[in-house]
Amino acid sequence: MPQSITRPPSNYPQTDSSVGPASLRERFAATRHLTEALLEPLSEADATIQSMEDASPAKWHAAHTTWFWETFLLRDNLPGYRLYDESWPFLFNSYYESEGSRIARRQRGLVTRPTLAEVLEWRRHVNEAMETLLGDDSLADLIELGIAHEEQHIELLLTDIKHAFSKNPLGPAMWDRREDERPAQVDGWISHPGGIARIGNQSSGFAFDNEGPAHRSLLEPFALSRRLVTNGEWDEFIADGGYRDHRLWLSDAWAWLDRCNVSAPLYWRGDEHFTHTGWQVRDPDAPVAHISYYEADAFASWAGCRLPTEFEWEAVARGQDKPDSEQRFDASAGNQLDKAAPPRPVGTGELFGDVWQFTRSAYLPYPRFKSAEGAVGEYNGKFMAGQWVLKGASCATVRGHSRSSYRNFFYPQQRWQFTGLRLAKDI
Ligand SMILES: [Fe+2]
Repeated sequence: MPQSITRPPSNYPQTDSSVGPASLRERFAATRHLTEALLEPLSEADATIQSMEDASPAKWHAAHTTWFWETFLLRDNLPGYRLYDESWPFLFNSYYESEGSRIARRQRGLVTRPTLAEVLEWRRHVNEAMETLLGDDSLADLIELGIAHEEQHIELLLTDIKHAFSKNPLGPAMWDRREDERPAQVDGWISHPGGIARIGNQSSGFAFDNEGPAHRSLLEPFALSRRLVTNGEWDEFIADGGYRDHRLWLSDAWAWLDRCNVSAPLYWRGDEHFTHTGWQVRDPDAPVAHISYYEADAFASWAGCRLPTEFEWEAVARGQDKPDSEQRFDASAGNQLDKAAPPRPVGTGELFGDVWQFTRSAYLPYPRFKSAEGAVGEYNGKFMAGQWVLKGASCATVRGHSRSSYRNFFYPQQRWQFTGLRLAKDI
């Protein structure tokens, strides 16, 4: 059975070994187009609503990514460029203190103006202005960052609109349901003898600053499950009283359960769950999704296992990255909304896809880590407090965005992302 996490329509960059690596210009165009394609099913109200502080309006994502290009590329590098509207940085700066004051995060849903059409016009303006800079090799690293940044917001746009729609009593669908054939998960464990593992980005390709510096980590022997925990197993956990047994839960987690009245993953209702295609019956064989770190940890305890560390996960995944030469895409396919292709990441193996996987590793700087100079130094480093590392990629991650050294991170109670778990154990 295919897993039941709904996939967005597929103008994600396609893999095609018959074409060479895409140019920065092609990838810029495909990424910008993808954001706009995902807005198409949305009304003005859909695109403007903010359903909780963690989630941002779809229109805000479309505008904020444009602010990023306009601020860090055009304003700083294109002589004579003037801001499209000088009042908009206040609305669409996310968290860059060095870029000045900004609207409170929880108030992003109050930005009814500019309209979606005005934001789309701004996007066209910025795309055209970027044409000059896309050929400038000295800006390649910053352009890579801008593409990766917009890819991250594409995933957030998908998860945020899903949350907003879930709050609508009508349970609206963003797309029609599609049946995708996927291979079943494989049982078993991947044993690792332990030893010194090389951790962190070791390629010459793009990586975020938090993926480095590469360093050594000492691992004890362990085993990692070949498959993700499923909805059916989570049903067993619930039926066995998992949410009511304090012995399984961390103290903070037990207080969170009580405070927030949690007794199932987010979006569960009876034997259904909410998806981008509305309410659907859950597939018991599909990976469980939308759980918190607290829940992942409790389930692992119930199963007599534990969560992997980020270092263990990466040591196993390392061999599953494909070489850069195989990570090619056909930019022309980026315009085909109706071309079916599940958005699994490019250049990855069995540890990637479906859901982000919690590790038991706190999100901390690697040895000798230093934030980048300037405003973009605020991208990752300042969030290294109180969050947990997740590895892999999800069904909503843009293809090719993730890699074995990639570090996603969330607070332990958050669960609106496509988050799940893969068990680990000592051997
Ligand atoms: Fe951002």
